[in-house]
Amino acid sequence: MPVNKKIKELQEKRRRVLLGGGEQAIEKQKAMGKRTARERIMSLLDKDSFIEYDLFVEHDARDFDMDKKSLPSDGVIIGTGTIYRAPVAVYAQDFTVAGGSLGLMHSRKITKIMDHALKMRMPLIGINDSGGARIQEGVNSLAGYGEIFFRNTISSGVIPQISVILGPCAGGAVYSPALTDFVFVVDNISKMFITGPEVIKTVLGEEISMEDLGGAKVHSEVTGNAHFFAKSEEECFEQIKRLITFIPWNNSRKAKAFEPGEPDKTYDPEKIVPDDPTLPYDVKDVIRSVVDKSDFFEIMEHYAKNIVIGFGRMGGRTTGFVANQPLEMAGVLDVDSSDKAARFIRYCDAFNIPIITLVDVPGYLPGVDQEHAGVIRHGAKILYAYSEASVPKLTVILRKAYGGGYIAMSSRHLRADFVFAWPTAEIAVMGPEGAANIIFRKEIMSSDDPEGTRKQKVEEYKAKFANPYVAAARGYVDAVIEPKETRRFLLHAIEISENKSVKLLEKKHGLPPF
Ligand code: HXC
Repeated sequence: MPVNKKIKELQEKRRRVLLGGGEQAIEKQKAMGKRTARERIMSLLDKDSFIEYDLFVEHDARDFDMDKKSLPSDGVIIGTGTIYRAPVAVYAQDFTVAGGSLGLMHSRKITKIMDHALKMRMPLIGINDSGGARIQEGVNSLAGYGEIFFRNTISSGVIPQISVILGPCAGGAVYSPALTDFVFVVDNISKMFITGPEVIKTVLGEEISMEDLGGAKVHSEVTGNAHFFAKSEEECFEQIKRLITFIPWNNSRKAKAFEPGEPDKTYDPEKIVPDDPTLPYDVKDVIRSVVDKSDFFEIMEHYAKNIVIGFGRMGGRTTGFVANQPLEMAGVLDVDSSDKAARFIRYCDAFNIPIITLVDVPGYLPGVDQEHAGVIRHGAKILYAYSEASVPKLTVILRKAYGGGYIAMSSRHLRADFVFAWPTAEIAVMGPEGAANIIFRKEIMSSDDPEGTRKQKVEEYKAKFANPYVAAARGYVDAVIEPKETRRFLLHAIEISENKSVKLLEKKHGLPPF
């Protein structure tokens, strides 16, 4: 056959495969507000940067008349490309082909691109839109999932792994996203659950919609499985691209540095914390008052809002922020906020990102619910994560730092490199009211004016302990600073920590309170 004809033949073969599950299936996909798998990849990557592999892979199943069916590309697109010129490996499941279900060859394509990502040390982005294990392929589908989970695990902490849920992600399929670093969901499109509404109805007799069971809002606000929530696929891709600018390609590099810029003057650190220590304020304003260009990229914005986590840049370098949020439950630590913060601290540590911790915490949340939900075990995760983290750790105590909360929030005792405190800081075992009621109980009870005595004792306690100077006198706080000096102190600390080197004890691995 002449070369020209062979080229034409290739073009024709490509054209057929690129149609995926066919026009009708594509129309159905669009009617649901979803893009096709290839459109998704093109929207995410730099223009003309995507190179696709395994276009002509076909399934190998024989049972249930599968030998008579052709499944173009076996329902998944794989390839490499760039985002803002950073290399990325991508796979996107094609729901128009057998519901994006995962059979043996489909899984081999995914594991091929995962292996490339790990070998080449570049981020992996998986776009999930699938009915789960391909029922006709039996144990081969299960084997495929197992191979993916294994690779997710060994790649963890070496390359960034990002999961995007743009359709159903059902059954065991949810565990690949759960093993990755960041999960993105889109309102009305993402659905994640282990057992669907049908099974729940059969087994438990309960009726629930797919949305209420495992929709985007549920995973962003209730379960904490999702890290980013978007209203549309377009917004979701913008979020992913932004995230990519903050993280390094792999664990042996640092994130790309950007041009530094001063924070917006409207965030005046002197005016954020109210005079009355019982009044709340938005700690994100404190972050915006110190971070370059006041640009803060929040993660898990809608979950466990009593703690705020996210990325910003200090002097152009990516920095992780962990901050108690007085606007929400007075910024107390509880089961969910401990989980949220601990995982983020470990992410920053794995990928060479310094951590700035802003403290205003009344302690761990008391109560039967929290105790029974395991606040001891979950709360310990923060202690573990901070203690083990060897990246530069900078702490600023803004106001309350009480009890276990003081220790947990990157205190000197967990090896913070620099601890600064504002003059408004109150570092003590507990709040003045509670403390006075306990240690002066006898005096208060036996007084002719118990309320007056109580007030006087509270004031005495405040004068003695509710300040940063007792901690500063022991060197637990390195400097008491004016709020307006915060950025200068932090920038300096980040700069001189650039080559921080700490060797942890040699061991196979520790046993964090998972
Ligand atoms: C084979 C599947 C499939 C699957 C969907 N399809 N899921 N084929 N195996 N798991 C096919 C359908 O037969 C259909 O083919 C096409 O994909 C589109 O599916 P529809 O049902 O028409 O789409 P929709 O109405 O949008 O419903 C989507 C859905 C539903 C909610 C995902 O398809 C569904 O419930 N699928 C099964 C989900 C599930 O239980 N999966 C197994 C989970 S167990 P045609 O030819 O008609 O177009 C599991 C174990 C893994 O995953 C364990 C790993 C550890």
